[in-house]
Amino acid sequence: MSSVQEVNPTVRGIRAPTSLQSLAARIREEIKQGAQKPFRHVIDVSSGDPHRAGMAPISFVRQVLAVCFYPNLLKDEGLPLDVRQRAQQLLGVCTGGSVGSYSSACCGIPYVLKSVAEFIMRRDGGMSSHPEDIIFSNGSQKGLMMILHLMASGEGETQTGVLIPMPCPHTLPVLLDDNGLTLVPYQLMEDRGWAVDLDELRRALKAARGRCEPRAIYISNPGNPTGHVQDRKTIEEVIRFAATEGLVLLADEMYQDSVHGQEKEFISYNKVLFDMGNEYSEAVELISFHSLSSAMMGECGLRGGYMEVINMDPAVKKHLKSMQCPLSPAVIPQLALEVMVNPPTPGDPSYGTYYQEILHSQTTLSANTQRACEFLNDLPGMNCQPAMGGVFLYPCLHLPPQMIDKAKMLGVEPDVLYCQKLLEEEGVCLGPGCENGQEDPNYHIRLCVLAPPATLEEILARLRSFHLRLLDKFP
Ligand SMILES: Cc1ncc(COP(=O)(O)O)c(C=O)c1O
Repeated sequence: MSSVQEVNPTVRGIRAPTSLQSLAARIREEIKQGAQKPFRHVIDVSSGDPHRAGMAPISFVRQVLAVCFYPNLLKDEGLPLDVRQRAQQLLGVCTGGSVGSYSSACCGIPYVLKSVAEFIMRRDGGMSSHPEDIIFSNGSQKGLMMILHLMASGEGETQTGVLIPMPCPHTLPVLLDDNGLTLVPYQLMEDRGWAVDLDELRRALKAARGRCEPRAIYISNPGNPTGHVQDRKTIEEVIRFAATEGLVLLADEMYQDSVHGQEKEFISYNKVLFDMGNEYSEAVELISFHSLSSAMMGECGLRGGYMEVINMDPAVKKHLKSMQCPLSPAVIPQLALEVMVNPPTPGDPSYGTYYQEILHSQTTLSANTQRACEFLNDLPGMNCQPAMGGVFLYPCLHLPPQMIDKAKMLGVEPDVLYCQKLLEEEGVCLGPGCENGQEDPNYHIRLCVLAPPATLEEILARLRSFHLRLLDKFP
């Protein structure tokens, strides 16, 4: 039995994405072969992948990468000057001046790591950040996997445990399980907009001690899939808790660019830690993650991310840095990351377009979140907490008891059955809450709302038809 199930027996169906994704692929293939369906195409918004949902990439990123791929474009005056200058600069830091060469740096090209450190300093109001503390990986989850792998030890009551929010990002239980760590669940407070609660952290830790060896706490801020944005007071509480209990803090901040709730702002764990003074800033081990898969970039397929490692024992850090060696990470995502953390600024030829594109994504995200939340709350048997950041909504489903019984008879989680039927009947692929570790009978669904507004409308209309039919069938 997996460690996930041992501590939280209700975390089931964690590998269900495979079955829903393969069902979606099968339906797409049937449509291609001419099968008649009530819909013409499948829309998959089960993961935070805005491009999959139809959002356009940011031009500056793609233009710079295009020139890096094909340097003859350096002479193309149809491209903005700053695009060509940036590409030249980036090609200059690639081995042999080509993106086709292996990079010789296992934790990332030094120039890119320096840009990341400068970005962190600008973001966090000038506090220091050092390229030596930054490690690039092909996707932030790869970085997280390296940390989990590093922390894994023991078995049974000595096995490393990690405190994980419930609900959690849907890939997380599998990452823990694969690396032999025990998932220690702490519940987020749905009725308080999915806030973190200090008493609940204490309860979860106490319950886990003696059953495993809790060594870290994972935080997703802004929350995936909850959309909750932590305030400074909460972050301070979590940092104090980690300090008192000797836990490593893993702060997943990949949606830091997507806060849209009124009077909400993203504050990094790094900033708060340093604002708390030496007692904490020199003691708490903090690892923060950010990624090209962020809301505004949405470059999930490029697979690029970084972690910033603070207060880690130098020997451990050295080992961590050697973990990708001798296989250096891919070059293109590193260049894309450099562009993400160092975008055009006012006065640059590309600034106007860049600004308009980011603004468009931000307004789309904010309007879609509000629209979808109101829409879902108007459906009978559905309740949705407003999201303040991130790309997901995560409504609670009050399923008819007959449907729950039917699902149990079929040996499927009721929220998985709901998603399967929705996919088969309406061609919309959502994520079932059990993948996020949600406890039975607390059913939820997960949908990425960063999509073109017309696509969102189509998703909502199809979802409503299905949902109302279901309630009619099981009154
Ligand atoms: C827990 C978690 N962190 C980070 C990410 C983004 O990861 P990556 O940078 O590997 O695309 C995801 C994406 O699903 C995630 O689930």
